[in-house]
Amino acid sequence: MSFDVQAVRADFPILSREVNGKPLVYLDSGASAQKPQVVIDAISYAYSYEYSNVHRGLHYLSNVATEKYESVRGVIAKFLNAGSEDEIVLNSGTTEGINMVAYGWAMPRMEAGDEIVLSIMEHHANIVPWHFLRERQGIVIKWVDVDANGDLDPQKVIDAIGPKTKLVAITHLSNVLGTKVDVKSITQAAHEKGVPVLVDGSQSAVHMPVDVQDLGVDFYAITGHKLYGPSGSGAIYVRKDRMAEMRPFIGGGDMIRDVHRDEVIYNDAPMKFEAGTPGIVQTIGLGVALEYIMSLGMANIAAYEDSLRDYARSKLDGLNWLNVQGQSADKAAIFSFTLQGAAHAHDISTVLDKKGVAVRAGQHCAQPLMEHMGIPATCRASFAMYNTTDDVDALVDALELCHDLFA
Ligand code: ALA
Repeated sequence: MSFDVQAVRADFPILSREVNGKPLVYLDSGASAQKPQVVIDAISYAYSYEYSNVHRGLHYLSNVATEKYESVRGVIAKFLNAGSEDEIVLNSGTTEGINMVAYGWAMPRMEAGDEIVLSIMEHHANIVPWHFLRERQGIVIKWVDVDANGDLDPQKVIDAIGPKTKLVAITHLSNVLGTKVDVKSITQAAHEKGVPVLVDGSQSAVHMPVDVQDLGVDFYAITGHKLYGPSGSGAIYVRKDRMAEMRPFIGGGDMIRDVHRDEVIYNDAPMKFEAGTPGIVQTIGLGVALEYIMSLGMANIAAYEDSLRDYARSKLDGLNWLNVQGQSADKAAIFSFTLQGAAHAHDISTVLDKKGVAVRAGQHCAQPLMEHMGIPATCRASFAMYNTTDDVDALVDALELCHDLFA
């Protein structure tokens, strides 16, 4: 395996700072990842020397900004192995992408009693847009549970698809459990039943190679800030035929060709789905972040993170007062946990923070999963490519302190 974690760490300036007098141990990349210097520099350069609005001006700076911004579509298409950059809608992240599909594709196709299949471990971004359709037009959400290990049996998802199912909307990787979902098998079976599949790729695209053509999916949403890029950047892959079926979601400038008193003519896709001045510099930063990831090699990153997961798992398994939720064999390096008989997750995370260890605590925007598990809150340590076994050791030391304090 060729992956030099120390070289990667050196690319992320924030990792060398201290927090509360301790070296920062950043284990909250599932919420948002840190940014490498190349991304920070690209943002600074764009604002310093190449900033203007895009698609509108005829002057030099507008053309340069447009060229830089538009080139990111191709970078994302390469990153996801889309068939064409015209299948990439640029947006502010997964939440916007899924809402676009809910309003633009699903809403005109779903009537009262029609069904959508979701897993119980969806993030709220892939739940609430469907609740809107449930509230407003009476669609039915069918939930598929995970087993005690946190695994999702693809057959259970396939079995949940009935004659009234119009869409399967599913995560590729749980932000709470780290569980990976066999999206390819689900998609093959769903397509045999004539049902499209939307995938929430917010976490997966960060930790494993994604090939949307191989997966065969119809929609695949990603978010820039978890991919070491700026917040407010992202994209959704929409397969060409689905793109043609989708009506525009947000109306405004940029997504139109002509606007008259009694008529509006939309721009061609994908710009038809990109209204208003976009996150210009954010998107440029995302392009640089993805180039950075691809230069390291996603397969190398995934292999490194697997070794980190195995190390973390062996260490955490040694703490018999710690309950880790999600024991899937091939999970990502995301560990949600509670301490037996101990304090609330918020108290644990506060103690960890005093030791410089940053984790998230709460329900992780996944309340149906938490209800399914019967746990009000967990702490979550989510690892990224810049974490090391030293970070695992620091987490374990800080947890031992918690155990001493709260047990
Ligand atoms: N979706 C982000 C998380 O899992 C915010 O923390």
